[in-house]
Amino acid sequence: MFGRIAPRYDLLNHLLSLNIDRYWRARTVSRVARILTRPGARVLDVACGTGDLTAALHRRSERARVFGSDFCHPMLVTAKSKLAHGQRLFEADALQLPLAAGSFDLVTIAFGFRNLSNYREGLTELRRVLKPGGTLAILEFSTPSNPLITQAYRFYSRAVLPAVGGLISGSREAYTYLPESVRKFPDAQGLADQMRDAGFENVRFERMTAGIVALHTGEALGQRH
Ligand SMILES: C[S@@+](CC[C@H](N)C(=O)[O-])C[C@H]1O[C@@H](n2cnc3c(N)ncnc32)[C@H](O)[C@@H]1O
Repeated sequence: MFGRIAPRYDLLNHLLSLNIDRYWRARTVSRVARILTRPGARVLDVACGTGDLTAALHRRSERARVFGSDFCHPMLVTAKSKLAHGQRLFEADALQLPLAAGSFDLVTIAFGFRNLSNYREGLTELRRVLKPGGTLAILEFSTPSNPLITQAYRFYSRAVLPAVGGLISGSREAYTYLPESVRKFPDAQGLADQMRDAGFENVRFERMTAGIVALHTGEALGQRH
């Protein structure tokens, strides 16, 4: 499914979010900027798709090394054309990363976590590859708290997203799956609780754009491999 939408993925992201997706990623980068400016920091953007967050992390980093991974080859092909020299991409399932434990200071995942088949396993795996004291940042769709916004958002995601997304990408299925997967995803508090259960500490979240999206961060302090 991701392979089919890869060629039009960026266009649709910007169009369907009215370009607000750029702000969500920029805000995420700002929130982790202190890690990006640390000399020698190692950063992994998991489920990086076409690499917009990977590239934004790299632009903000000074001497950090930024890597991107995804299990969908066509997404990585698009990402490669955007990334700066020195940035590395690799193909990998987020649930089974081909990486040694304790490898990264920062792991990010934007709009990818929701798609994992098992959130608990995903959190355990992302935590495994973090160094002690490393940070996980999850940018993901969430549940707006205002009922009026929830209604409007529901209409938009059930009627407009599949129609426009299907027409432009050629895969109506992918843009029907999107609102369905958001509906089934835990709310911001629920995701924070799951992060704590998986051993993350100092878990925090901030809602953006009336709660349509939330950014969660947590630290892997004492490692449990
Ligand atoms: C909605 S896109 C988000 C891409 C990008 N992070 C962004 O901000 O636009 C979701 C991405 O997650 C990837 N993905 C989903 N499940 C995955 C998994 N188990 N392992 C690795 N990548 C996965 C898909 O291939 C897709 O590129």
